[in-house]
Amino acid sequence: MAGSHGQQGRDPVVVLISTGIRPEEKMLIEAFRRRDIALHAVDDRQVHGTLSAWPQNVPHAEVVLARSKSHWRNVTLARWLEAHGARVVNPSRVLETCGDKAATTLALIGEGVPTLSASVAFGRESGLEAGRQLGFPLVLKPVVGSWGRLIGKANDRDALELALEHKEAVGGSPHAATYLQPFIETGGMDIRAFVVGGRCIAAIERHSTHWRTNTALGARAVGRPVDEDLAAVAEAAAAAVAGSLVAVDLFETPHGLLVNEVNGTMEFRNSVETTGVNIPGIVADHVMAMASDGLGLGLPQVS
Ligand SMILES: Nc1ncnc2c1ncn2[C@@H]1O[C@H](COP(=O)(O)OP(=O)(O)O)[C@@H](O)[C@H]1O
Ligand SMILES: [Mg+2]
Repeated sequence: MAGSHGQQGRDPVVVLISTGIRPEEKMLIEAFRRRDIALHAVDDRQVHGTLSAWPQNVPHAEVVLARSKSHWRNVTLARWLEAHGARVVNPSRVLETCGDKAATTLALIGEGVPTLSASVAFGRESGLEAGRQLGFPLVLKPVVGSWGRLIGKANDRDALELALEHKEAVGGSPHAATYLQPFIETGGMDIRAFVVGGRCIAAIERHSTHWRTNTALGARAVGRPVDEDLAAVAEAAAAAVAGSLVAVDLFETPHGLLVNEVNGTMEFRNSVETTGVNIPGIVADHVMAMASDGLGLGLPQVS
């Protein structure tokens, strides 16, 4: 395969930027290696430079896989690289939407994708009123956050009041806005569907004894066959946020599948063996197809 990409008779340069090498990055590097393509891994903590130029310590690349742990770091890097001609997956606009639960909900609603009702409030009193209107139990979340951190369930007004009071006292950006949803009785199970290049390629169920089913909190992953329904909702959610590499989290409810969130930096360490689908391999093929396409489209060439 090496040397066969693009119209210039050379391989496009692909860079992976992340915060250290997690199992996903390891699997991606290996998937590229198997295709005889070097994936240049860069630790985001090494990156610096003037915004008027390509960042230092990042090889010049046509395509950059943005996988920083921090939402804002990822968005900043993506914007910076895009400004200097790189194609970033996912693009900054997608990362901005997916990293912000309110923005994701607005995008899903805008495209008519089935999702949970969600409210936003900025103060203690308005938060209480939003909770009263939603009804209890409800779930409170920081607008920006992941791995289930700082996500709480309020069974009644007193619990909500305490949470809102704490958020106000602690302050800082995670608590500047409160995102509230009705609590969905999931039985400790949600579905994660992987969408690559518009196609749902695999899915898992995450099971937990806790109502939060993040694998980072100990939930167990099992493979879930992708049926027409699941593929349709997951692919519509990916399209709504314009994401080409996303993991869509869904709840199974009596009203059908509802999208809870869309992850723009997908984690799949527990999903390859459980699904039997070579997720990093499919990602690598997708990224290389994009890169070759970019060379053909006359994107800025690098030497
Ligand atoms: N409205 C809800 N009803 C029931 N469970 C929920 C609700 N929202 C989140 N959860 C549970 O909490 C987990 C974490 O919430 P999520 O919105 O995915 O935030 P994070 O970005 O931190 O993963 C979900 O995977 C799900 O198991
Ligand atoms: Mg989640």
